[in-house]
Amino acid sequence: MGHGLEGLRCGLRDGTGSATEPYTTSGASAYPGRGFRCCQTGPVTDGMDLDRPLGIEGFDEAYSGVPPWEIGRPQPALAELVDGGTLAGRVLDVGCGTGELTLLAASRGLDATGVDSSPRAIAIARRKAADRGAGRVRFEVGDALDLGFLGGGFDAVLDSGVFHVFDDADRARFVESIRRVLVPGGRYHLLVFSDAEPGVWGPRRVRRDELEAALSGGWELESVEPATFEVTILDRTVHAWRATAVRRD
Ligand SMILES: C[S@@+](CC[C@H](N)C(=O)[O-])C[C@H]1O[C@@H](n2cnc3c(N)ncnc32)[C@H](O)[C@@H]1O
Repeated sequence: MGHGLEGLRCGLRDGTGSATEPYTTSGASAYPGRGFRCCQTGPVTDGMDLDRPLGIEGFDEAYSGVPPWEIGRPQPALAELVDGGTLAGRVLDVGCGTGELTLLAASRGLDATGVDSSPRAIAIARRKAADRGAGRVRFEVGDALDLGFLGGGFDAVLDSGVFHVFDDADRARFVESIRRVLVPGGRYHLLVFSDAEPGVWGPRRVRRDELEAALSGGWELESVEPATFEVTILDRTVHAWRATAVRRD
């Protein structure tokens, strides 16, 4: 069965750039050419299996290389939002990865916090912050399903590709965890793979009605619009939703 990765940009097996090779990352031999550079960003993570949910350890392991979502800059659909100037105050980038979106927010004068369960990702993010002389920014290792350790009081939460990694039970916990750290009237902005994206590799595809259901009680879903998500392994963008929900009480 096809994985929907027919537009694969790089030859993941040998690094030759052949664009049509069917793609599986299962097993340690998936990247025999470990160390080759895929696209602009670096060696693709060795042995990553995009056919299974990664889990917290799998995500951390992914950062020993360059995972497919690591595009070397924030996802444009959310960078646009930050650059639009509508955010203010304290901003949390949940599941921040190596911190590009958090650092963008900080560079625009926002009080930015990035949280990720991956110690590797957070170490990279902290190094970037130091190298760039970033202003009001902090990075913490922590679980997005229980953000209480942050103490709350956030005006906005940004989510670049995290909502879609959780199963149904954890999705509900995740959304409630976010709701609790927002001030009433605070906004949750998310970017997720949509059901318009073909194939079964990688994260879950999310339907509009799933967003509506997940962001109902205690939320007002303000907008859901088609958007795009960039990955390093395709020569096209992925179909996505960008959505905003407001904490009601
Ligand atoms: C698809 S990546 C997106 C990373 C980053 N937001 C970006 O756009 O590059 C999903 C991120 O969620 C993090 N993550 C997964 N489960 C998590 C959890 N329970 N708590 C915190 N972070 C989690 C992963 O470590 C990973 O960095």
